Amino acid sequence: MTTPKLTLTGNSPTEVTALAVDTLVVGTIQGADGPTLAPGAEPVDEALDGRLLELLVSIGATGKADEVVKLPTMGKLAAAVVLATGLGKPGAGGALSAEQVRRASGAAARALGGVKRAGTVLSAIDLPAAIEGSIMGAYRFDRYKSSNGDGPVGRVDLVSPTDGTPKEHKATLKAATAIAETVTCTRDLINTPPNDLFPASFAERAAELATANGVEVTILDEKALRKEGYGGILGVGGGSSRPPRLVRLRYKGSKPKAKVALVGKGITFDTGGISLKPAADMDHMTSDMSGAAVMVATVVLAAKLRYPLDVTATVPMAENMPSGSAYRPGDVLTMYGGKTVEVLNTDAEGRLILADAIVRACEDDPDYLIETSTLTGGQVVALGNRTTGVMGSEEFRDRVATLARASGEGGWAMPLPDELRTDLDSKLADISNVAAVSHGGSMLVAGLFLREFVAEGVQWAHLDVAGPAYNTGGPWGYTSKGGTGVPVRTLAAVLADIAEQG
Ligand code: BES
Ligand code: MN
Ligand code: ZN
Repeated sequence: MTTPKLTLTGNSPTEVTALAVDTLVVGTIQGADGPTLAPGAEPVDEALDGRLLELLVSIGATGKADEVVKLPTMGKLAAAVVLATGLGKPGAGGALSAEQVRRASGAAARALGGVKRAGTVLSAIDLPAAIEGSIMGAYRFDRYKSSNGDGPVGRVDLVSPTDGTPKEHKATLKAATAIAETVTCTRDLINTPPNDLFPASFAERAAELATANGVEVTILDEKALRKEGYGGILGVGGGSSRPPRLVRLRYKGSKPKAKVALVGKGITFDTGGISLKPAADMDHMTSDMSGAAVMVATVVLAAKLRYPLDVTATVPMAENMPSGSAYRPGDVLTMYGGKTVEVLNTDAEGRLILADAIVRACEDDPDYLIETSTLTGGQVVALGNRTTGVMGSEEFRDRVATLARASGEGGWAMPLPDELRTDLDSKLADISNVAAVSHGGSMLVAGLFLREFVAEGVQWAHLDVAGPAYNTGGPWGYTSKGGTGVPVRTLAAVLADIAEQG
């Protein structure tokens, strides 16, 4: 992860045209009657004799999202090149959303690879969105390439908005940079291949990140897990030569408004186990620890931004492998806290490690419990790759889903229908991990399974990000290939909201 250096700069027309950057970024809008220039481009247009839009249109600019067009300035302003990035169609009354600015800034940052110094006027429209979009868009994961190509943009000068004070802009720069770097840190963890990121090494990295930011760390190894009865984590992790871990990270802010528990699924690779997955696309299961990566990075963010909250992440880590020591379909596991689970499918492993972690997290008596996981293929079937499925206690679920949409990550409230709970009834144990006879709704059934392990009175939300956590297609907006970092920005919004409202 290399973040471009971001600096704030003045917004007077002369400051913009004199900006000593290689490339200056402006926005275009997909208007009903053809493209228009987004606010902030006025001084650039003037320097080009009022012909900026005409020139952009002549080389094909339409203003649609993810469109990037470059124009030489022929010495008319300090920047040698103007890069126009599409914001897409405006909303009602011509309004541009933060997410439009974020995506357009991301697309621009992706197209700026190799550029030493760039500037942007999109920051004058929405400063935090331009910061987040620039950092997330500039992200690349090239640690495993022998030659690194041209590298990300080195520096981005952000033209300041006209409203607000320089002091406020500085505070915005700090907070938005912290949030965006939480996303890129999460992506790095997800994109690290499973031969290098396994439970012990993942726990080690989590501990390093935490310690560097004053977050308290406890790691339970396989011996400690056995001693304390973590049957779910040990069952799932039993097939791997690389034993499981449970990592606990605690940040305690001053005068905390609430106690928040975070839980994330940390399957460092999911083969399915004895219920082996098909070979096609199995490599995508390097991303099955996305929830864990998100929660590790998020508790560190809470510490960086000093939220007035008591936040503890409880993160189970295991590798789901088939072998002579693997757990079997037919096994009964005794979970942490004593509930028994009949395993009918070893590929429904996430809920087993999460159940242990949720019970442990609830021992701390949290006000809120937020859990996220790449839990079910059913999430992808129901909501696709860009909309997180949000389940849990109704009021908190709806609050989280609303904030997920406001953050630009997307999310939708889903029900936990009582009639599906009987699908998990087991003759042998307290509950089974999958339906013996399915009535569909596998995302919801997984949510119902998890609900059994949440303590009464805890407000909880379960975010299934099987699709949104990992981009198997091409890059778009600020989203790179591979790990996306979803739902980091949703969680940042939820923590900020709890810090404010309780
Ligand atoms: N890690 C997978 C879910 C998944 C699928 C994540 C696709 C990302 C993309 C999970 O462990 C799994 O295998 N779930 C099964 C459960 C089934 C056996 C009940 C599924 O959803 O197919
Ligand atoms: Mn699985
Ligand atoms: Zn899995």
